[in-house]
Amino acid sequence: MEVVILDSPHQAALLAAESVRALISRQSQAVLGLATGSSPLALYAELIRRHEAGELSFSGVKAFTLDEYVGLPAGHAESYREVIRRELEVHVDFAPDAVQGPNAQAADLAQACAQYENAIIAAGGVDLQILGIGTDGHIAFNEPGSSLNSLTRVKTLTAQTRKDNARFFHDDIDAVPALCLTQGLGTIQRARHLVLLATGEAKAAAVAAMVEGPLSASCPASVLQLHPHATVLLDEAAASSLHNGDYYREVWSAKPKWQGL
Ligand code: F6R
Repeated sequence: MEVVILDSPHQAALLAAESVRALISRQSQAVLGLATGSSPLALYAELIRRHEAGELSFSGVKAFTLDEYVGLPAGHAESYREVIRRELEVHVDFAPDAVQGPNAQAADLAQACAQYENAIIAAGGVDLQILGIGTDGHIAFNEPGSSLNSLTRVKTLTAQTRKDNARFFHDDIDAVPALCLTQGLGTIQRARHLVLLATGEAKAAAVAAMVEGPLSASCPASVLQLHPHATVLLDEAAASSLHNGDYYREVWSAKPKWQGL
């Protein structure tokens, strides 16, 4: 796992954007995995900026979102499919239907989950997966206790996650759905490169557990310790509980920049 500690959330977003650009320039038909929530918003803004500057085209790119609330009406402003549409898709040049999310409107949710797994496989798998981390250590909506081998399925959100996400629902925790569909930890592990963004003091404990704690379903994000190519981009506040912060800084400052992430 590569841990990069940066001076600001903006720098983390720039590095992640550069990694996406480098991938698409090597592979114009790349497959991206897109997270929602607030962590990737600065990255998406930077991707849009680069697209508008003529530096980046998504015309051959496919993308899969990580998760979706169950129980929101189609087109609800906080459904994750809608968030991705608003924050990224409509501003760049994805082909129609190039971005997919798990279908939380399906009558048979288990079948919709299996179809989503198949769609990711049929697209050739995810080349670069953007991730955020919840304060309880979740990635996507794999809450503590999630099987490290899990695939896309229905999950129940913890009270902590619903409380954290109430800010998107006018601070009304009761408006945050309790159920979701989420790619599993096994699904995420199949992506060829994982890039996790975490900023702010509120993420410090979860980040320390993910990077330096035991590999455990109690901290689902610790599954990144198993991945051969996982990059964790942090600001100083999110890195503040790490024991080996100085070592990660040393490694990064000595790394030839042409290597990328
Ligand atoms: C959402 C997702 C979640 C978020 C996490 C952090 O698609 O994958 O794991 O990344 O809940 O959310 P923010 O970034 O809002 O703190």
